[in-house]
Amino acid sequence: MIENRIYNFSAGPSMLPEKVLLKIRDEMLNCGGSGMSVLEMSHRSGVYDRIINDAVSNVREIMNVPDNYKILFLHGGASGMFAAVPMNLGNGTGTADYIISGNFSGAAYKEGKKYLKNARVAATSEDDQFRHIPKQEELDLSPDADYVHVCWNNTIFGTKYNYVPDTGSVPLIADMSSSIMSEPVDVSKFGAIYAGVQKNLAPAGLAIMIIREDLLGHEMAITPKIWNFRTEAEKNSMLNTPPTFPIYVVKLVTDYLKEQGGLTEMKRRNEEKAGLLYDYLDSQDFYISAVRPEDRSMMNVTFRTASEELDKEFVAGQAARGFSNLKGHRLVGGMRASIYNAMPKEGVEALIDYMKDFANAHS
Ligand SMILES: Cc1ncc(COP(=O)(O)O)c(C=O)c1O
Repeated sequence: MIENRIYNFSAGPSMLPEKVLLKIRDEMLNCGGSGMSVLEMSHRSGVYDRIINDAVSNVREIMNVPDNYKILFLHGGASGMFAAVPMNLGNGTGTADYIISGNFSGAAYKEGKKYLKNARVAATSEDDQFRHIPKQEELDLSPDADYVHVCWNNTIFGTKYNYVPDTGSVPLIADMSSSIMSEPVDVSKFGAIYAGVQKNLAPAGLAIMIIREDLLGHEMAITPKIWNFRTEAEKNSMLNTPPTFPIYVVKLVTDYLKEQGGLTEMKRRNEEKAGLLYDYLDSQDFYISAVRPEDRSMMNVTFRTASEELDKEFVAGQAARGFSNLKGHRLVGGMRASIYNAMPKEGVEALIDYMKDFANAHS
């Protein structure tokens, strides 16, 4: 860690690799020999053209995206896609199945209800306070749905899909905002994968949409021009001025991921980091880890003590240890450590030391 930087456990926007931050700094006055920063650059310039094309080809290479999928960079983050997905994909039977496993899948469903004839809840784990991911046998799927929507990693509750739901011939659409590029996924099992980039890839405001080509071109007439997946695919995501800076950072972060060994190596590191935390949580009884062990997230680790007062004290003590953003989301309380790709193992080890010291002082 560079001096004066802290371990930032924020759920998003989140830590970026220091090497990438330094590269941004170095290129800030003269990006790619242009004599200007990327912030000042026309998206129609040759230098920017290379940046966006490199970003697309890096995403394709790193995620092993098959040739029959398009990679789009769109405005509006993941919440924008909550509306854009039904508008672009829900114009067949008008029925879509939503699996509700937390806050964001619920938000996607609510948005879907505005545009679809029939937005269905195919399963929900709400009666279990979202402590688990609905299993295949819990799903009530409609065979004629236009798509099935899931949230792959539940940022607030700290759960993740560890199986791919079988939806037959109905396309599976996954919001992977908080797990994208944390490990390899088989893209061919999905109709589309999308993500807000502000956790693992870049600053906020941009969504990546990876979508199978046959799903393009079925949009509703009301679909805003800038969220029309078909025309955005035709225009290489440049129907209007795209979020140029976040796309530039996606290019730099994906360059970095390639150099570090790609998603197999990210998975190894992330399993190691999350493993340290969960092993510690399982070895003691001062902290409670509420989610079902088989559905635990590698990116967002939630825990709490036996009392809200102690939780508050734990959070209040973080700054003195060089940490920030350990407070749990208001919907769950307690604590949450978001340990995305850029969080070093040393940050997790330092957090466990703090947890041990705090537990000893209060037992
Ligand atoms: C899983 C998930 N989906 C969607 C969102 C919303 O993303 P955005 O703020 O880009 O709309 C978040 C944000 O934290 C998230 O964690």
